[in-house]
Amino acid sequence: MISFEKAGKRFGTLDAVKDFTLEIRDQEILGLLGPNGAGKTTLMLMMGTVYRPTSGAISVNGLDVVKHPNDVRKLIGIAFQDPRVDGILGAFDVLNWHLKMTTTLGKEERAERVEQVLRAVDLWDARKKRTWLMSGGMRKKVEDCKVLAQRPSIAVFDEPTAFLDVPSRLLMWKMIRELRDQGSTVIVATNMMDEAERLSERVAIVNRGKLVAIDSPEKLKSTTKGGEVLELTVGVGQQFPRELLAEFSEVQDVTQTENKVSVYLTSGRLLLPKIVETLTNRGVKIDSVHLKEVTLEDVFLNYTGQSLD
Ligand SMILES: Nc1ncnc2c1ncn2[C@@H]1O[C@H](COP(=O)(O)OP(=O)(O)OP(=O)(O)O)[C@@H](O)[C@H]1O
Ligand SMILES: [Mg+2]
Repeated sequence: MISFEKAGKRFGTLDAVKDFTLEIRDQEILGLLGPNGAGKTTLMLMMGTVYRPTSGAISVNGLDVVKHPNDVRKLIGIAFQDPRVDGILGAFDVLNWHLKMTTTLGKEERAERVEQVLRAVDLWDARKKRTWLMSGGMRKKVEDCKVLAQRPSIAVFDEPTAFLDVPSRLLMWKMIRELRDQGSTVIVATNMMDEAERLSERVAIVNRGKLVAIDSPEKLKSTTKGGEVLELTVGVGQQFPRELLAEFSEVQDVTQTENKVSVYLTSGRLLLPKIVETLTNRGVKIDSVHLKEVTLEDVFLNYTGQSLD
């Protein structure tokens, strides 16, 4: 189990992470979902003993990350956001070296594991290509492969599918799930909704260094007010008269980003004509109307007031 207790990280006057309390269960896949600058990487690097927390405490299987960094490091494998591969080496040597540093595997076992992951991500033929000559997506795959081959007890992936094409993303998700099935606890930082939703058992929504919600994607969606969202596009620059919708008891919340208004409600189908009529009578120009079920994206918007678009 990994436990963050009021953990914080201050850079100068900036609280990159603040009062962060969270327990990560053994063998779960936890998604850390948040926009750029939310503090995801900082959280992971504190857990991985790269950064020292400036307040609170973090422990990994009962070991405090500040007091026992070497023991903690043995448990964790991190696939960094920016691939940290030695450009002169080919993918095979990069991975072999990583295993040599992080595991007790013998030479042959290392070679086997490296071959297995490189074949799985279709980089076997490119195994000798210097990694600085690889494309961004290929380099990212090599970075992810470090942890996939290492099979650490705690596997951390920082935006594992950034730069990857669609088939490669699906494959990477599958491989991350298999890693968990073999016994690893997995933490994935992402700013992509579909990744958080499809990969994680629980999603922690992080915004401005703080934990704003944590639950399964389904629960997060069901606790988002209403269960349905009416999306309205209104004329640019129009102030939306929210108070008009207060008379409908089925309407629980209204948020607006620029000219996109989201109305969280129940019985949307019945209310839609009435809402449109009420607004039109008031002179609001509605360009489009769309009624849909709540998605994780709405949950995010609801908790942070920020869209990820
Ligand atoms: N070494 C550092 N020195 C100073 N400020 C930092 C440092 N690392 C991160 N920050 C700041 O801390 C905040 C959180 O950054 P962090 O990299 O953790 O965000 P993130 O959620 O991983 O974002 P992204 O999705 O862009 O990767 C940002 O405002 C960032 O500028
Ligand atoms: Mg990051």
